[in-house]
Amino acid sequence: MSRRFACLLLFALFIVVGCLATEIESSKKTVTPIKTASGKTKSNEIPKAKHSTGKSDSSAKQQPVPAVKQRSLLSRVTDKLRLTNRRYKSGKELKDKHLEGELKAMGKDSSNETFKGKYKKPLDKHGATTGFFKPDTVTSTSNTAVASSKIGKHLRINPTTADRYATHNDKKGVLSPEVKDAKPMIESKKTKKVKVYKHNLENPKTQKGLAKLQLHDAITGQKDRHGGNIYINTKTGKVTGIDNDYAFVKDVKQVDTPTDRYSGLPQQVDVKHGKRLMREDTQKFKKMLDNETDLDDNQKKNTVERFSAVKKHVKELHQKKMLVGQKGGKYAKGWGKDTYKDAINEPTVKDWEGKDVARSYVQRAHLEQTNTAKYVGSKHKLVDV
Ligand SMILES: Nc1ncnc2c1ncn2[C@@H]1O[C@H](COP(=O)(O)OP(=O)(O)O)[C@@H](O)[C@H]1O
Ligand SMILES: [Mg+2]
Repeated sequence: MSRRFACLLLFALFIVVGCLATEIESSKKTVTPIKTASGKTKSNEIPKAKHSTGKSDSSAKQQPVPAVKQRSLLSRVTDKLRLTNRRYKSGKELKDKHLEGELKAMGKDSSNETFKGKYKKPLDKHGATTGFFKPDTVTSTSNTAVASSKIGKHLRINPTTADRYATHNDKKGVLSPEVKDAKPMIESKKTKKVKVYKHNLENPKTQKGLAKLQLHDAITGQKDRHGGNIYINTKTGKVTGIDNDYAFVKDVKQVDTPTDRYSGLPQQVDVKHGKRLMREDTQKFKKMLDNETDLDDNQKKNTVERFSAVKKHVKELHQKKMLVGQKGGKYAKGWGKDTYKDAINEPTVKDWEGKDVARSYVQRAHLEQTNTAKYVGSKHKLVDV
């Protein structure tokens, strides 16, 4: 069977499965009228649980929340296929010819020289066509940012932007696809007050995402994960790490050392992510670093050591049934109020000024929002998302 024919067959299969799924979904949504004792008809739909918006009941009554329209599986599958067809192949190095117009310098708001650009095709699976380009400098190099994204992809946790190499205006560097519909945890522009965004830290998706990012930062030896480099989707709560180049600088001894920019090993790890790490063979991980990254031998050696330490930590959590969502364990119910309460109450570490250094990114964001975190002082303001 030729490859072309096999592809066509696969595509047709996708369409058929998509159609079937749409049928099933729409039949599920059909509302059958029920006759009540009074003879009036009413729907047999189960009423949805009230969604807490943090607003008072009366305002909720005045402004009914519109129903979220579910997209059919078929439209999602065709969208994905269309996007895959249109976007730049992952790993492809971007050049000037791929740009739509000129790059614009970000100016004073970036500590390194960063440029914003619009591209002709989407840069990632989310459809971002805007990207941020950072040319290599002595302290900021593209190979570390790209390796960080590669590791996230290989471990199938993808907690960061899908960074790739780019060469613009004859300078080699890294291109980070824009995280859409998101705000950072903290925004610190040189001339203005520091803004702390009031993201909902109880959102299970946000807790899970922050824990995943912390785990990834432990493996990659990330040194710069302050709140300005953590973006959270304002609608869904999805977490994405940006600015991934200052990584692969730690040795294994520093894996569990909390600082103001990294919180050590997370005590809360999602069962799915934990099991994925436990399944990953260390030799296979090492081979991937050799084949797919441009890290030097020392960086690779340290990464394998950090990876082994993180895997050991996850195994211990698993043995104690402490993974989040693990059957029969403390957090069997998954992410929610209990995990949030424990995270914000975890004993902190005091630094030399007596300030609290958080043990998780959730706790750190909580301290930032309550104005007790290091480096967030009187000159900051809380902002709704
Ligand atoms: N992927 C991205 N999505 C959204 N904004 C980004 C992204 N990458 C960079 N930026 C914006 O550019 C700024 C500087 O980029 P960053 O990579 O954090 O460089 P620096 O090393 O200067 O901190 C960020 O604070 C943010 O405003
Ligand atoms: Mg940054």
